[in-house]
Amino acid sequence: MRLAIILATLLIAIITGPAPLRAETSDGDIPSAARSDQVTLPDTWRAIRQGEAGYIGGQPASRGQLIQSEGEAWRAARNGKLAVWAGWLLIGVTAAIAAFYVIRGKIKMEGGPSGRLILRFTKVERIGHWLTAGSFLVLGVTGLNNLFGRWVLEPVLGKTLFSWLTWAGKWLHNISGFFFMAGLVVIFWLWAKDNLWDRYDWGWIKGGGGLLKEGVHPPAAKFNFGQKTQFWMVILVGTLVSSTGLNLLYPFTLGDIHAMQVMQLIHAALAVVMVLFILGHIYIGTIGMEGASTAVTTGYVDREWAREHHAVWVEEVEKNEPKAAE
Ligand code: HEM
Repeated sequence: MRLAIILATLLIAIITGPAPLRAETSDGDIPSAARSDQVTLPDTWRAIRQGEAGYIGGQPASRGQLIQSEGEAWRAARNGKLAVWAGWLLIGVTAAIAAFYVIRGKIKMEGGPSGRLILRFTKVERIGHWLTAGSFLVLGVTGLNNLFGRWVLEPVLGKTLFSWLTWAGKWLHNISGFFFMAGLVVIFWLWAKDNLWDRYDWGWIKGGGGLLKEGVHPPAAKFNFGQKTQFWMVILVGTLVSSTGLNLLYPFTLGDIHAMQVMQLIHAALAVVMVLFILGHIYIGTIGMEGASTAVTTGYVDREWAREHHAVWVEEVEKNEPKAAE
């Protein structure tokens, strides 16, 4: 008997076609106090549930829509696939970096520090770096809180503190976006020319960047192929994340609510990709490599570090400006 009912239901479903995307609600969903107008209200309610837009004086038609049912699909994607994938990738990449540290250890200056310094980045370059990096760190922390905070922080901090922090974080996120975009312009202007493919890049790739084995130091100019990859990732993905972010900051400027839902998914997914890259960058710039971090703090690095990682660049500096050596 049960089988017959299932088969009959299936048959009806096949004949009548798939269920409409926008589910219709039963009368039971209408608050009883609002049911005095028995004739017109269910029709009005059905129209609203089906996404029909009303009219608001002086506003675009899209703003007259009270309920947009596709929002359910967007929310399911954001809180489901996107959050789950992003979460696992963040855990996986952090674990891979930790494993690399355990296996390879800190990449040392093999010749030992020479004590003689060379100017790696001018003040303007360092300002460009920290404008981009500082704002990105704020964007990353506050953005990840937007995506995961409700599950990770709220149970620990409680609703009041979490909502206060998230409110402040959203405000910071909106402001930092502009500093980040300014940083992108500055580093593009300063460094794009040093990040074009050159004849040392192929050798650097074949030598695994000298990261995998001790004693291997493929020559590189100002930036090696790994840094060039990270530079163009920051510029290109950063531009996409910024433009989708602007669209969310100024709603309805480029499209309707559906366009904004798509923008939000692209913004969040690409931002997570950037965070994954930057995790590796921060690792190499701090505990992963001896002698690198001062390039973006004081601006100077040890001449031995520079020779091991950027031999061609050191030669150029010494040839053109012999006084640059201290
Ligand atoms: C705590 C955070 C960070 C630290 C400690 C750090 C450290 C460094 C260091 C040491 C360098 C110089 C490498 C060299 O001399 O060859 C560098 C370069 C650079 N950084 Fe950062 N950085 C950080 C965050 C960021 C962020 C968030 C971004 C972008 C969103 C970024 C973008 C760049 C770029 C484009 C370069 C030049 C190319 C390269 O070396 O990869 N940095 N950083």
